[in-house]
Amino acid sequence: MSDLIARQNQVIAPLFAFEADDEVVASEGSWVMTRAGRRLLDFTCGIAVSNLGHQHPHVKRAVIEQVNQVWHSGSTFRYRSLVDWAENLRDVTPEGIESFMPMNSGAEAVEGAVKLARKTSGRQGVIAFRGGFHGRTMGSVSYTTSKAKYRQGYHPLVGSVFISPYPWPFRWQMDQESASARALDELDYLLKHEVTPGEVAAFLVEPMQGEGGYYPGGKTFLQGLRDRADEHGILLIMDEVQTGFGRTGDWFTSQVYGIRPDILAMGKGIANGLPLSAFGASKELMDSWPMGSHGTTYGGNPISCAASAATIEALRDVVPNVDKLSDHAFDRWHELKDRHRTIGDVRGLGLMIGIELVKDDGHTPSEEAYLAVGKHALDNDLLILPCGPDVNVIRFIPPLNVSTEELDTGIDILADALAAYERQ
Ligand SMILES: Cc1ncc(COP(=O)(O)O)c(C=O)c1O
Repeated sequence: MSDLIARQNQVIAPLFAFEADDEVVASEGSWVMTRAGRRLLDFTCGIAVSNLGHQHPHVKRAVIEQVNQVWHSGSTFRYRSLVDWAENLRDVTPEGIESFMPMNSGAEAVEGAVKLARKTSGRQGVIAFRGGFHGRTMGSVSYTTSKAKYRQGYHPLVGSVFISPYPWPFRWQMDQESASARALDELDYLLKHEVTPGEVAAFLVEPMQGEGGYYPGGKTFLQGLRDRADEHGILLIMDEVQTGFGRTGDWFTSQVYGIRPDILAMGKGIANGLPLSAFGASKELMDSWPMGSHGTTYGGNPISCAASAATIEALRDVVPNVDKLSDHAFDRWHELKDRHRTIGDVRGLGLMIGIELVKDDGHTPSEEAYLAVGKHALDNDLLILPCGPDVNVIRFIPPLNVSTEELDTGIDILADALAAYERQ
């Protein structure tokens, strides 16, 4: 055990699951460099955060400029980077999302979004979807069902939260349309049997599930939610903490599908690694929330806002290219699926691709396969992460400005890993 790990074990809670034991001392673009001199291709983006890679020059310049001006306000005085940031954000968020509340983490963005919905509607019910991940705070974990383990030991959770199925075509062994119809039927049963629509403040949904296994929601399902929200005066909250900022091929997945959210929760890629999150809504909805109903000390930190404004500027050149990279990656993954019996399913949008690893029956999840593939990848200098309740789905999330050559290097390493696993 290295000296650093031994020291860490004495003073840091054992809750982090570090993929690599290596100490990283430098980073650039898609790569991180270790103290021992290894170069690791980082296809984790720090859990889908550094979408522009490490040390992006435009973001770095903005951070340094802001460091030289002011670091913290805590809403005691005004500063420009907050407004510059929000204006940049308004340019890229879905139509109608035009006023923003900055927070620090994805969980806080979700909490704020739900509080806004409850306060302004006067209703208390929230319907979330099975397999969703919305964070770890008591409120957000009450909406989270990607793994029962995340909730274990924390009951009673926040009340008046109802969970309805999300379409999972591969798990249910049906096509996307049939899975959407089934999920919407179940939602209608829930509204008939468990809670009346008039008591529901919000639907809270990821337009593509992240932690839950990289399942795209599909247009039919999300349109079904929009229609029911309109019919019953329910607010549609899209949690785009993981799917936002170009990850799925447009700025937000709600734009990919053309479904309008009433409230949008954002985080992760928003500032390419500096701590910031936000929720946004129409100006009318946000303005109907009286001062003091919600607040934050650190949210909207001047440095994080400067980083985010610069991230959005830099992404303007990057987002239009995501579809091309995505087509290349999907072509390669579909071809690998034909060759490898361990790949049960390849699914996703943009550069958010899930590769589901299965046993020989072609369907049963195989965590063992993921562990072997993940280890082989790390031994060959590629960092990846898993997702899904069975920890058997490769989360393929390279930086959005990755070169085609780097993309191929990562896929080649994973192809070798699959071949080695199947030879065993
Ligand atoms: C969709 C989604 N919502 C919320 C969160 C919580 O974000 P954070 O860990 O920043 O609180 C995550 C984190 O993975 C997420 O993927």
